[in-house]
Amino acid sequence: MSFDKFKDTIEQGDTVILYLNVNSMHAIQVQPKIKNKKDEWVENVFQTTYGALKVQSLVGKKFGTKVALSRGWAYVLHPTPELWTLTLPHRTQIIYTPDISMIIFQLEIRPGSVVVESGTGSGSLSHALIRCIKPQGHLYTFDFHEYRVSVAREEFETHGIGQYVSVKQQDVCQDGFGTELNGKADALFLDLPHPWEAVPHAAAVIKDLGKLNQTYRFEGQSNDFLTVEGLPKELSVKMIWRDVYTNSLFTNF
Ligand SMILES: C[S@@+](CC[C@H](N)C(=O)[O-])C[C@H]1O[C@@H](n2cnc3c(N)ncnc32)[C@H](O)[C@@H]1O
Repeated sequence: MSFDKFKDTIEQGDTVILYLNVNSMHAIQVQPKIKNKKDEWVENVFQTTYGALKVQSLVGKKFGTKVALSRGWAYVLHPTPELWTLTLPHRTQIIYTPDISMIIFQLEIRPGSVVVESGTGSGSLSHALIRCIKPQGHLYTFDFHEYRVSVAREEFETHGIGQYVSVKQQDVCQDGFGTELNGKADALFLDLPHPWEAVPHAAAVIKDLGKLNQTYRFEGQSNDFLTVEGLPKELSVKMIWRDVYTNSLFTNF
């Protein structure tokens, strides 16, 4: 229950991020027992490259604490949508933080927004959207895949953010988003193989029809589409030598 508000101390049921190094992080749920492959309940011991961690030993520890593993150590971090994106169990391809930030910025999503999203996929974008719109806003997320819908719904509940999101199993290209959402959405985002098939249904749910009409107009004028590309660039530091002016040169100024 740790995605909703920041807190100091780890409690039973929390999701924590076990940070080994920048390339190795794991999301773990703090619970004393876990089911093994034989479907038996056993002590929850998490294995890492630096040894084992008894997960229950995290209860009462402060977020940010360094914890001992059997062959090393790690930090236990508070979960955020960014860390969740890096550690979540992949059920689909996902959207990553640089693109998520651009999506939220371009759609002008803010606290109180009503947002419609499809497909839910692995819930990477959904977690960031929920943080942005809560506490008054709401996310309606749709996916036609039964398993993905049920796991996403379970994750939102486990993460303590279930009250901000409605997850529905529906083919949005065929059946749209449901008449109850007509004229309700401040923003809509489609991460689908054929997003254009859902555009007529999107017209019904979006609040700002004027804005969406423009989307239609743009369809015939592809040069009017806004296309954004984000490329990470590594910065390097280089030593350069320049002539240094003497102090006397500057005293005349
Ligand atoms: C790439 S994934 C979405 C990933 C998600 N944005 C994330 O960041 O985790 C695409 C999802 O769209 C779903 N999907 C594809 N076609 C659909 C349709 N017509 N209606 C609803 N969901 C659909 C798939 O089941 C899949 O889960």
